[in-house]
Amino acid sequence: MTTTDTAQASGYTSSYLADQHAGQLERLRTLERAFDPLSHAVFDQLELAGKPAILDLGAGAGSLAAWLGKRYPDATVTATDIDTRFLTNIPGIRVMTHNVATDDFPAASFDVVHARALLCHLTEREDILTRAATWVRPGGWLVIEDVSLQPSLNTANPLFRKIAQAGITLLERSIGSDMLWADTLPGRLRDRGFSNVGHRTLEGRIGDNSPADIFWAATTAQAGPALLKLGLLTQDDLDAMASLRADPAFTAAALTLVSAWGQVL
Ligand SMILES: C[S@@+](CC[C@H](N)C(=O)[O-])C[C@H]1O[C@@H](n2cnc3c(N)ncnc32)[C@H](O)[C@@H]1O
Repeated sequence: MTTTDTAQASGYTSSYLADQHAGQLERLRTLERAFDPLSHAVFDQLELAGKPAILDLGAGAGSLAAWLGKRYPDATVTATDIDTRFLTNIPGIRVMTHNVATDDFPAASFDVVHARALLCHLTEREDILTRAATWVRPGGWLVIEDVSLQPSLNTANPLFRKIAQAGITLLERSIGSDMLWADTLPGRLRDRGFSNVGHRTLEGRIGDNSPADIFWAATTAQAGPALLKLGLLTQDDLDAMASLRADPAFTAAALTLVSAWGQVL
């Protein structure tokens, strides 16, 4: 196994989404509160037996790795990230600095390889899907969960559409993210020859004070300075969006979390 000793510079690590930002841990917690329920439901239906080896790539602040450790007390849970600062002090899991874009694992090392809100941000996403499949043992599962912002582009509200398009452009330009890629995930697993491919989705709205709404607001707030610096939005746009979101008459579909899984036979 090869690992990076220090986090390598990448689009993500130098971006407004990276872990050095004040408030990043709380932003990751808002993501976890929004997305953990779907991830838990997906793992619950996999019916893992025995003492599974589970890998969570790009584990962030680690709520899912912590849950996996409790859900499967006999499992070996490995949580990786290029920046592991938020993964300390989680009992019962192995933590490893690992850049999924460049670092490997030996073939057939895990019963489940999982990644959430990670591949959409990495330009190497197609290659990672192919490589991660080789890390899964026969009978095991690859589970990929990613965010699609397509619903926000479908909104009838012109201000929300403008803000959404600016956010997608910022992510694409500063990180290389593809915020529509998640919609193609089940097909990509089928194309790679996975068996028993399935998927589930979680719809996230804004303006309804839901966990997804709070995650959206935290991420947009963190993106604010970069959006202004690149001239993608003005302060007036951001202020108007804050007022719109606070308007009790406004709510709109904002994102989909797509969870897709496939089995290696
Ligand atoms: C949006 S967060 C998602 C965190 C976690 N998967 C979750 O859903 O709660 C993305 C995480 O991926 C990590 N990351 C970014 N690029 C990475 C890479 N090349 N290899 C491993 N992790 C990476 C970031 O440090 C961050 O913790």
